[in-house]
Amino acid sequence: MMLTESISIERVKKSRLSTIDFSNLGFGNHISDHMLVADYKNKSWQEPKIVPFGDMPMSPAMLSLHYGQTIFEGMKAFKNTKGEIIIFRPQRHHQRMNKSLARMCMPELSEELFLQSLSALTEVDSDWIPTQEGSSLYLRPFVFAYEAKLGVKIADEYKFIIITSPVGPYFAKPVKLKVEEEYVRAAEGGTGFAKCAGNYGGAFYPTMLAQKQGFDQVLWTDAKEHKYIDESGAMNIMFVLNGKLVTPQLTTSLLDGVTRDSILTLSSSLGIEKEERKVSIAEIEEGFKKGTLTEAFGVGTAAVVSTVASISIHGKNYELPPVNEKSFQLRAKKKLHDIRLGIEPDVHGWNYIVK
Ligand code: COI
Repeated sequence: MMLTESISIERVKKSRLSTIDFSNLGFGNHISDHMLVADYKNKSWQEPKIVPFGDMPMSPAMLSLHYGQTIFEGMKAFKNTKGEIIIFRPQRHHQRMNKSLARMCMPELSEELFLQSLSALTEVDSDWIPTQEGSSLYLRPFVFAYEAKLGVKIADEYKFIIITSPVGPYFAKPVKLKVEEEYVRAAEGGTGFAKCAGNYGGAFYPTMLAQKQGFDQVLWTDAKEHKYIDESGAMNIMFVLNGKLVTPQLTTSLLDGVTRDSILTLSSSLGIEKEERKVSIAEIEEGFKKGTLTEAFGVGTAAVVSTVASISIHGKNYELPPVNEKSFQLRAKKKLHDIRLGIEPDVHGWNYIVK
């Protein structure tokens, strides 16, 4: 197996770094200078290479275009207060990536290949890691079927690529959610837990309809009864209900979010009891009516901790109370931030330091 030292690097002739306005990044608008590419053929992953970010040849018969074998991950790299590059919980992202790959009949990646690829690429493009408050280098590893063939089959050739993007906050302001009771993101037994591209493409249409009605995102409900809350597509959802941190339990139709897991893990040190269970729309509506629902927020790698401003349930819009510095969500967000930057000790071993 290859080692970081042996990953070949072809550097850009001219960096694009000076063209980037780091004070106004947005999300996903800029791609860093380099990318990492590894091919899968003859039943094994080949040596990865770092090359300038750019187009690549593809056949119109490439299988992923036709039958959707394509999955991805999303992670973040930061510079801590010592100036070291840290990647947040890459081992956990690796485990989830392999679950997505297995569900889609795609070849898994070793942890060694995954971590070394991330390390080498973040090191090469370390100047692209923003240091402004709320910013980070978003890492996007993905795998897709590359074989050219029209027959409906599991591909024999794949590409593993990592591209990276300096990003600011995902949402510019608190989000307005609509509980979705007609369309479905994922059904139990489907691919909802996998980070496959089709989950996102399938969400566009209902989300577009919700956005035309003035909402930002939909809050997906279970496919059988539209009674229980699943997640919000680009993020998991959490509530503070009756003074407890409440979030839908994981099923095969929800993404096992790394930020979700981190905040649940931190909850006891933040002095709140947690409940992972089925969460019905009815109890959220009742919480609004009784005033026992005090917070709602989305959690995800891109979204970090995103305040929910309002939730529309059966066509009625309910507003959340304003957030203040005592709010659980802001304390959780700060704790995560401080752990990542080395301001607080990393007792869970979440920060992977790139040597
Ligand atoms: C992430 O949080 O990393 C995601 O993948 C959500 C979205 C940007 C697709």
